[in-house]
Amino acid sequence: MLHPLRHPLASHLVASLRDRDTPPAEFRALAHRLGLLLAMECTRDLATRETTVTTPLEPTAGQRLARPLVVVPILRAGLGLVQPFIDLFPDVSVGYVGLERDHATAVAHSYYCRLPPLAGRTVVLVDPMLATGGSAAQALTLLKSHGATALRMACVVSAPEGVATLHAAHPDVPVYTAAHDRGLNERKYILPGLGDFGDRLYGT
Ligand code: PRP
Ligand code: URA
Repeated sequence: MLHPLRHPLASHLVASLRDRDTPPAEFRALAHRLGLLLAMECTRDLATRETTVTTPLEPTAGQRLARPLVVVPILRAGLGLVQPFIDLFPDVSVGYVGLERDHATAVAHSYYCRLPPLAGRTVVLVDPMLATGGSAAQALTLLKSHGATALRMACVVSAPEGVATLHAAHPDVPVYTAAHDRGLNERKYILPGLGDFGDRLYGT
């Protein structure tokens, strides 16, 4: 259920995102480019339906996406992965879940939720960092309570602890990750990781 992104360009982009000397403007651009690769990878198995199109020469069989797509970022860092989905799937609906980890306990609390209809749609939860897995597990529970049944998650960096927590709580949800790292430090930051994604994205 863990799908590492295996592409030389993804590794190249992750290395630049990890670099502590990468400034916010460049970090945002890199996150966008990596987000495009993640969006492609995590939608590889989307269902299609048969259609007929007429080329300038003759009718032919084709495929169109069968179900509407919904992307849901966990605020705030997840916002950095939304535009790539909009670029590739212009009809995508966007929902928002606001969760913030307490700095002392690393336990996430919810402060915002605004979702489109989720039943019958493919829903992609996006959050660049899967550390303890607490935020993502909470968000998936929320999405399921709003009717989502076909869920997947995309992240930039995952920790084994977070993947284990998520798979225990939501074994039906595949996780797509650009980098699967070593583990967490005592403050529940991913090692080697890339630091605080939200702070680096927004220069805070
Ligand atoms: C970060 C990150 C995830 C969460 C991951 O968000 O974007 O949402 O931590 O940690 P977890 O797997 O241990 O729950 P943060 O709470 O720092 O908020 P931010 O996006 O506003 O920076
Ligand atoms: N959130 C981040 O932004 N980075 C981590 O390493 C862990 C949680």
